[in-house]
Amino acid sequence: MSQVAADPRVELAERIARLKRERNAVILAHNYQLGEVQDVADFVGDSLELSRKAAATEAEVIVFCGVMFMAETAKLLSPERTVLIPDPRAGCPMCDMAPAEAVRKRKAELPGVPIVAYVNTTAAVKAEADICCTSANAAAVVNSLPEQRLLFLPDRNLGLWVQRHTDKEVILWDGYCPTHQRIRAQDISRLKAQHPGAPVVVHPECTPEVIALADEVLSTGQMVRWARETPAREVIVGTEVGLIHRLQKDSPDKRFLPVTLLTTCPNMKRITLEKVAWALEDMEHPVEVPEDIAGPARRAIERMLEVV
Ligand code: 13P
Ligand code: SF4
Repeated sequence: MSQVAADPRVELAERIARLKRERNAVILAHNYQLGEVQDVADFVGDSLELSRKAAATEAEVIVFCGVMFMAETAKLLSPERTVLIPDPRAGCPMCDMAPAEAVRKRKAELPGVPIVAYVNTTAAVKAEADICCTSANAAAVVNSLPEQRLLFLPDRNLGLWVQRHTDKEVILWDGYCPTHQRIRAQDISRLKAQHPGAPVVVHPECTPEVIALADEVLSTGQMVRWARETPAREVIVGTEVGLIHRLQKDSPDKRFLPVTLLTTCPNMKRITLEKVAWALEDMEHPVEVPEDIAGPARRAIERMLEVV
């Protein structure tokens, strides 16, 4: 009798599920993770949703499938838990555009001006900030401040988007996301001509030219919720391509068209199923934030969570 060979990906997923139980671990994954990584996670979400999950989990170990600033945020909110990142090289080039030393220098030039740090910053930069924000709550955070002027960093595109939703003066930092920069207005116009009637939904990290063509500008978690509700059968999506898996799984009766397949975040894709299994087997790689940075960085994140 011939034997059906087991699917090695299924075996790997089963091994991860077993290890997770043995370690009393929870797997949190960002919406941009590879589909097979999303599928083994206990929770998949955007930066804000993942922060809330990390703060509320009962598990002893958090395996964070995302980039380093997200894993650091999880550690700041759950300091007593072990937070593992399956690949510690998963950085974010936008974070690197705002080094702590440069932020301190700018802060000294702007006395009395509060700093709003997008969560896409290192813990050292969060420690210099008054409050954090994510793409889901940036305007609400800015409008919660008593001051009329603020420094917003590092994403100039999100900063410009916020400026459209506040009377305050938003001083920008010249950072951007190289992945979202690849989304071009002409690609959206072409897709719109091919799919008349399909609404365009984009992330606020896109350029102002792209945002001008959008029907909705939303965080990835907001896109998932919006997609469930929309009566449209086809949707044009301008963000990192990993979200298409999430959207398609969540709303299987609709068709999601990425503006371009070039919008892959290579750092998000460093996390693979194998590395998730290795992380749980070897308890690698623990995320640590030095205590002098952790205190003020945690306060900036907690202030954000108090607003929205
Ligand atoms: P979200 O918080 O909307 O998921 O965005 C995170 C991110 O890194 C976007 O590039
Ligand atoms: Fe950073 Fe852009 Fe990747 Fe998000 S998609 S983690 S902002 S490089």
